[in-house]
Amino acid sequence: MGKICTVAIYKGGTGKTTVSAHLAFLAAEQGSRTLLIDLDSQGNASDTVLLEVPNLDGVRTASDLFEESEPAKPILNARPQLDVLPADSRLLAVERLDFEAATLFSQRLKTLAADYDLVVIDTPPTMGFAMLAPLLTSDSAFAPIVPDAYSLKGIESLLTRVAEIRESHNPGLIFLGLLVNKWRRNSRAQNDTVEQFRQELGDYMIPHTVPERPRSPTRPMPMSRSGKTPRAARSARRARPSAKRSCGF
Ligand SMILES: Nc1ncnc2c1ncn2[C@@H]1O[C@H](COP(=O)(O)OP(=O)(O)OP(=O)(O)O)[C@@H](O)[C@H]1O
Ligand SMILES: [Mg+2]
Repeated sequence: MGKICTVAIYKGGTGKTTVSAHLAFLAAEQGSRTLLIDLDSQGNASDTVLLEVPNLDGVRTASDLFEESEPAKPILNARPQLDVLPADSRLLAVERLDFEAATLFSQRLKTLAADYDLVVIDTPPTMGFAMLAPLLTSDSAFAPIVPDAYSLKGIESLLTRVAEIRESHNPGLIFLGLLVNKWRRNSRAQNDTVEQFRQELGDYMIPHTVPERPRSPTRPMPMSRSGKTPRAARSARRARPSAKRSCGF
């Protein structure tokens, strides 16, 4: 069975979707059979990876992982080696489910994972079921954070949840750490905040950081291919071996 890696944190806009999509791009580029599951009803991860509006005939979307309907069925080869289980609006209702519903989700996720080397799961910025359920079944998880003072609260709740889940449901869950994203190296305030994170959260911090890259009006593409953002491309290339090793595939 492939490794399941969830990207989660209870704070909006830290880069969960961006990092999930790029991790999936990188794994697929390296030849791993990869599935990206979009559990956020906003559907941004699906939009990032799908090159055109998908034909959903015969596709079962991500909310089918939670319901007694037909099993979820991804869009195959959205990119080479990369399949996508797209988000849908019924995911909003999933937020209110509780741990009881986790068994069905877990079975369905494991069945899907059997066909892949790596499953990457993007989650919404809420502490609801769509974020908790994948953590109950994942091999690993990590969280992108942005260097601002408000991030600490989201980090604390996530770390508490991960510890609880490890104790009660998923002792094998590896927390890979906190990845600083959108770092402006020339901002003194941000550098102070990153330094504070390192002091307070030392072991949890992933040593690699992702700089803020210029905004592009075009559809996102794998950072490693983007000639317009050499720093981001270099950064993505440096992160490659560690992403692969960390997710254990
Ligand atoms: N390293 C980066 N440099 C510049 N912009 C970035 C970077 N990472 C993410 N962004 C931008 O920040 C915004 C938020 O990113 P993203 O949607 O990935 O966050 P999110 O955590 O998934 O948000 P949400 O909580 O709403 O799901 C997007 O416009 C994205 O393009
Ligand atoms: Mg998102």
